[in-house]
Amino acid sequence: KDLNRISITACGTAYYAGLVGKYWFERLARINVEVDVASEYRYREPPLDAGELAIVVSQSGETADTLASLRYAAEGGQHTLAVVNVPTSTIAREAEAVAPTLAGMEIGVASTKAFTCQLAVLLSLAITAGRERGTLGEAEERRLVEALVSVPGLISEALRAEPSIEALGQEIAKAKDVLYLGRGTSYPLALEGALKLKEISYIHAEGYAAGELKHGPIALIDETMPVIVIAPHDAVFEKTVSNMQEVAARGGRILLITDEAGAKAADMETMGTIVMPACDPVVAPLLYSIPIQLLAYHTAGFMGKDVDQPRNLA
Ligand code: BG6
Repeated sequence: KDLNRISITACGTAYYAGLVGKYWFERLARINVEVDVASEYRYREPPLDAGELAIVVSQSGETADTLASLRYAAEGGQHTLAVVNVPTSTIAREAEAVAPTLAGMEIGVASTKAFTCQLAVLLSLAITAGRERGTLGEAEERRLVEALVSVPGLISEALRAEPSIEALGQEIAKAKDVLYLGRGTSYPLALEGALKLKEISYIHAEGYAAGELKHGPIALIDETMPVIVIAPHDAVFEKTVSNMQEVAARGGRILLITDEAGAKAADMETMGTIVMPACDPVVAPLLYSIPIQLLAYHTAGFMGKDVDQPRNLA
């Protein structure tokens, strides 16, 4: 309730969950949030305000850099909260408070269900913080909680898109490079989509904030590089459409992940459109993580890669 600032520290997929969390804490609870990669945070030795909150996010609860960040924050007199999946892990034991993600055991190295559960926990925390700080009213809280509760049903519906995602995976498998674009909370999802694809298919992929397209990556656009655009029909949808038009004008091939309203409004030729059920924009990151995970999964599967034990990853 009385915090001025939160820091979120994590690695890999958990870091991207933290980036989504930043949007939620800022929007719903009006708290400043800094998100850091743990391997940078721990060695940068940032000045800390005692009494503020450090959140670490980790599936395993054993990632060395994330653990070191937790210890650094605790030594600096900060409160520590671990969003963690393994309740017996070192991070869970050392943190002052634990918000368990309850995803069940992650067998694959590349985090998937742990990611969606990290998002669910971070959103719950942001909603609770918003209520405590008076930035969310009771009706708004109810709407958000109902949206969160609707997510499992929406994910079941989203899974019906799997056959078309599988077919698109065959197309992506032919690419050498793939670009992911998104705005708002879809930006960290673009980063996560690119990470999932490179982790398990070994195809080079990059995620970018859609608004940054014109500041560099637009030079890469040609007919050989698929551009995957994550764009639910939300407040920034029109802006993302203008970026898609920039891609199309340069002969780029677009794979659009949106909802029915978005597919209709975009009105653009694509190499494929994956249609998600309509949802409250706040919970879109949970829902849209499903098609990006499935796309990476089917691309890698088509290429004969071992999706559970990717090479070089621990
Ligand atoms: C990497 C994994 O090695 O560790 C990623 O390949 C994972 O999938 C990252 O996100 C962080 O792990 P953890 O357990 O701290 O969430």
